Amino acid sequence: MKEPFLNSSSENLANRFTAIFGENVAFESPLAASGMGARVSGIDLSVPLRPAQVELLLDTLSHVRLLTIAGQDLDRFSLASFERFANHWGAPVAHPSNFLRGGKPAQQDGASDGAIEYVPYADRRVADADTVLPGKVACLAHESPAVLVATNLLGQDDRKEFRLKDGGTWHTDIEYEPLPIYVSMFLAHHVPVARDAPNGQWIEPPTNSAPAPYFPGSADELMALRKRLPLNGETAFADTAAAFAALPAKEQSKLEAVRVRRRLNAEDEGWLAPLVRVDPRSGIKSLHSPIWASRPGVRPPIGVDGMSPEESRVFLDGLEKHILRPEFRYDHMHAPGDVTIWNNYMSVHTSPPIKIGVKRPEDARLLYRLSCKGAPSPVLPRDDDPAWIAEHIASGYRSPEAIVGSAG
Ligand SMILES: [Fe+2]
Repeated sequence: MKEPFLNSSSENLANRFTAIFGENVAFESPLAASGMGARVSGIDLSVPLRPAQVELLLDTLSHVRLLTIAGQDLDRFSLASFERFANHWGAPVAHPSNFLRGGKPAQQDGASDGAIEYVPYADRRVADADTVLPGKVACLAHESPAVLVATNLLGQDDRKEFRLKDGGTWHTDIEYEPLPIYVSMFLAHHVPVARDAPNGQWIEPPTNSAPAPYFPGSADELMALRKRLPLNGETAFADTAAAFAALPAKEQSKLEAVRVRRRLNAEDEGWLAPLVRVDPRSGIKSLHSPIWASRPGVRPPIGVDGMSPEESRVFLDGLEKHILRPEFRYDHMHAPGDVTIWNNYMSVHTSPPIKIGVKRPEDARLLYRLSCKGAPSPVLPRDDDPAWIAEHIASGYRSPEAIVGSAG
């Protein structure tokens, strides 16, 4: 493996894991040539963590950008335990697909008023996933609006045959709000294990040569990098801390001065956000969502302060081409029971192409995602100011006492 771009001091972290979690904990890092990623096993997250343990996990992520805490026993580790764990990283955000605002789906437009109504699990579209492989694959019980289910068991229609669905576009989670998402995390429940496509993998590469889901007009080289996605259901990441560290110092200082204008809707004035972020724990600098249009057709493209729309596109396409270079890429293979946390300020990611219309458990992909905003909290419950919650957490969601316990 090549020398990582950033020193993640993995030996030091490994020693700290043994000291704080005990001798049975195994630590492996990095997981990618860029220096990204750590995998820890031997930690049972169904048991509440001590503050010193949380601090070590936070330190680790701040250095390595992506952290897997492997091997949770899904008979004991419930989605309520998962949400309690997430509260250490930030305030969990209710997913827009899980609530209505003023009687309309919250994701439909940028409206920010109207009464909030959480959708019960049974009324969510994802509940249909439980009917596809009855008795074999079903979601873990939950009602929380913060849990997003990512699965290929939907969109089945009446298809008799498998069908391939293209991967998503490269993005970070909720970069389009004034306070973006800090971390997101997956708990893996089922992952595709079939490898019987003609190429010996789960699926063949999709044959869609059209720009979609991207806007047309980017260079062929960039489009090829965007669409080079894993074929076994892995989540694809690019390490924007290593990508920044690899740039010449002069270029780095220029980028540190760049502000981008983000907006929720095309007609909004929006606000200026820094392109380069400094991690408050590790001091590592990284590019935050250096992508012109990461949600084509859903959110407007961003602009660089002082540049025309066309100049902004050319500049940001250049950065996207840089961060998607193979040396900064990492395709993360999920395993059932793994909790994988990533820092959205220090990486971009995308969903892989998947098979839908599946008829057997070996093809099922079922993951649960939680996303968190704001400052970490080694002790629970969090003490977020209600005014801060009202300003930054769509729907004003807070994890209930039943999940995080009561104060005092
Ligand atoms: Fe995402």
